[in-house]
Order: sequence, then C-alpha cells, then structure tokens
Amino acid sequence: MIHTIIEPFRIKAVEPIRISTRGERKGWLEEAKLNVFQLPADRVLLDFLTDSGTGAMSAKQWGAIMEGDESYAGSRSFFRLEAVLKDLTGYQHIIPTHQGRAAEHILFSVATKRGDLVPNNTHFDTTRANLEYQGAEAIDLVIPEGLQPRTHHPFKGNIDLARVADLLEREAHRIPFGMMTLTNNSGGGQPVSLANLRAYRELLNRYGKPLILDVCRYAENSMFIKLREEGQQDRTVKSIAQEMFSLADGCTMSAKKDGMVNIGGFLALNLGTWVEAAKTLLILTEGFPTYGGLAGRDLEALAVGMEEGLNEDYLRYRLRTAEYMGEKMKAGGVAIVEPTGGHAVYLDAKDFLPHLSVEQYPAWSLCNALYLEAGIRSVEIGSVMFGRHNDDGTESYHTMELVRLAFPRRMYTQSHFDYAAEAICELKARAHEVRGVKIVKQAKYLRHFTAEFESATVQA
Ligand code: F0G
Repeated sequence: MIHTIIEPFRIKAVEPIRISTRGERKGWLEEAKLNVFQLPADRVLLDFLTDSGTGAMSAKQWGAIMEGDESYAGSRSFFRLEAVLKDLTGYQHIIPTHQGRAAEHILFSVATKRGDLVPNNTHFDTTRANLEYQGAEAIDLVIPEGLQPRTHHPFKGNIDLARVADLLEREAHRIPFGMMTLTNNSGGGQPVSLANLRAYRELLNRYGKPLILDVCRYAENSMFIKLREEGQQDRTVKSIAQEMFSLADGCTMSAKKDGMVNIGGFLALNLGTWVEAAKTLLILTEGFPTYGGLAGRDLEALAVGMEEGLNEDYLRYRLRTAEYMGEKMKAGGVAIVEPTGGHAVYLDAKDFLPHLSVEQYPAWSLCNALYLEAGIRSVEIGSVMFGRHNDDGTESYHTMELVRLAFPRRMYTQSHFDYAAEAICELKARAHEVRGVKIVKQAKYLRHFTAEFESATVQA
C-alpha cells in the first residue's frame, strides 16, 4: 500500500518564479514600508497571501473560455452555468456577480435593515462589513472550541446551538435570516458538520427564519464531512454538498475559491421573496442578470470549475496539503491552529515570538520575517487587521495574533511546501532575532492594506 498522495494533475503551462536573495528582499521590504501588501508580486517567491482567485485553471477550463458567448442578454454561457448550479444547489434563482462580496452586498441590501441581527458561525470580514453598512449587526456564535487554537474537534466551524436558541428566543423579531460559513475561514478554515447544519436549520424553522450559506469553500467542507462525520464515508462529496444546500434557502459564493476560477461569484436563492429586488440591484451595480459583472468566458470557466472543485482525488490532495504543512510545523516546534483547516495553515505568532508584546504586533512582525528570510508572503490576522487606533489616541488590540499561509489551488508542488516548511522551522530556531514593528502611518478603515511601519525585522 503506497501512502504518498500525489498532486492529481500534470503541469502543461508554467510561470517562472524569480529567485531572489535576502539582500534584495531587505531593500524591497523597506521600499514597501514593511507591509507585504505593498510588494509587487514578482518580488515574492511563494505567495500564500490568499487562496482567493489565485489558483491554476485546468486545460478544460481554458478550452471552455474559447466557447464563451459574449452576448449582452441571454448568453449561452449563462444557461450552461445556471444548469450546473441548479443541479448542484437545487436553488431556482441563480444571480451571477463579479465576486463574493457583490453577492453579499446585493442580498443584504434587499433583505436586511438597520437594527437587524444576523447570526453566523463567524462572519468573514467582507460579510460583516456589508451587514454593518446596512446598519445590521453581525453576530458570531461559533462553538467555544472554535476559538481555542489548540483544542481538537472534528468540526470546529460548528455554530453554538444553545446560543442560537437563546438569541432566537430573545430577538427573533430582529433576525431576517441565519447564516453559516462553510468552511469557517475566520476561524481557521474549519468545517461544519451536517448534523450541526441540520440542527441549526430546525431551530431557524421554529421561528420561520430562512438560512443562507456562505459557500466559498463548500467542496472542502463536504470532503471534511465525508472523511470525519459518522455514516458519511460511502457517499459522494457531491451528494453531501447537495444535502448541505438542501438544508438552506440560498447562498452567497465567492467562486474564486472552490469555484476554481480567478474571478466570479453568485447569489443563489430558492425563495422568491428577494429575487426581483436583487435582480434590480444587480442591473444597477453589476450588470444584466445573464452576466452579472462577468464576461461570458468567465461563466464558462466557472461552469467547468464547479465540477472540478468536487473531484474527490483533488479534494483528498487538497486537504492533505494543509495537513502535511501542519505536521511539518508541529515537528519543527511551531504552534499552529489545530487541526489544520482546508485552505490554510495558521501560525500562532504569540507562541512563535514570545519576546514581543502585542504592542509590537507579533503577527505582522512574523509576516515580515517570513518574507525577508524566505520570500514567502503570508497575511497577518492580528492586531493590525482587527485592532484600531481610537479617536481618543488609545490603541485596541486583537486577542489572537495569527499568520495565515493560504494555499492557492493546484499551483504549488510539494517541493514548494517543503521549502516553506524548512524555512519557517529554521526561522523558529532563531526567532529571538525577530524585532517588532510600530505603525507610522495608517488609514481609518482596513488599515492593514496600506499602513506603513518602521523598524523591527529588517536588521542592519
Ligand atoms: N466569504 C468568505 C468566507 C471569504 O473567505 C471571502 C473571501 C468572501 C466571503 C468574499 O469573497 O473576495 O470574492 O469578495 N476571502 C478571501 C480570503 C479574500 O483571502 O480569505 P470575495
């Protein structure tokens, strides 16, 4: 029995990676004001900033692109995509958008109002921001294990049903619908079980409330169910996914993840209530309902990508990639969020850099050190992203200081991951050399994208 899981694809087109030196990266990082978002991508060796829209498309997807029907109205490519999505989701109304947040914006504009409350396991930041933009409150009710980096649970993305029941009992009149994010990105890419989804649905049913899924990583979630949930082992991933969709009334999707495309998204609804208003807003902001902000060729690539994203050999390899990196991290004494999720590994920067206080932004400092030492770009999920500079001059900090290494789909090979693991473990051995940073310039909102920093990891 051979245990090695190989990349289940061959490579037909390649993109060169420019190999850089530490000296070059030191200068480039200074130019970028110690903010890796400000680096030109060709100065990055391995780009683990995000798994969103960064993956490789297949030969079949590139072939489908040539078949794109660019008609303004009634594009054949739309009907092809619509058929694929109706078969998968069972939802009657398919509304394409240019990416996930556009679907969120449209849904929340027509279905929420000031003072509403929307429960979710954990709202992704664009979901939260779009709800708050409508004056609604985004409420995160993930199970307690979901907030403890080292606690093991097979479905750490599950929602806390007791707290949902309590919220419904007290505030049902303010809740337009419930949401669930599959997988729970903000909590480490952790899955939700079918049993939890079913129970959540039943609770919402008691109050006549619809359920909307955020399905960016629904295929990874379905594969976790197949691997971990009792009685699900003999089912196809597609039939598990179909059951998940059947438990809800609609979904928002960023197709840049499990849709296996570089751009695209959709809103799908089974309920007629919001459809007309959503389509009107779609025309106002995205485009005609048969293309919704995408080209016909993008719709074709997505129709193929939705099917490829459910391939079980691919999903087994996909989940194994994060698990493999996680094992290497732990063997090297690097603390991570456990168990590893589907699309990323999250490093615990407080543990990695115990000599840095939170005022020195340890996760940000670790991101910079990973770039400097190995050319790896990652993303800080800590106090730069979630803390703030208050109007009274004080600072707020985030409870966790994490660094996310998110893996683009079908892009990097095992040797890329081996290189990254070696570099991170090697850095861990001399972590005490890594210095903290301070913010010298920042915007009021979403400061992590443009903030400028001084001193720290760039050593003389
Ligand atoms: N929901 C979840 C769970 C997400 O992870 C994202 C994007 C969105 C919604 C928004 O989709 O980017 O197409 O507008 N996540 C990316 C990430 C940006 O890096 O995790 P979008």
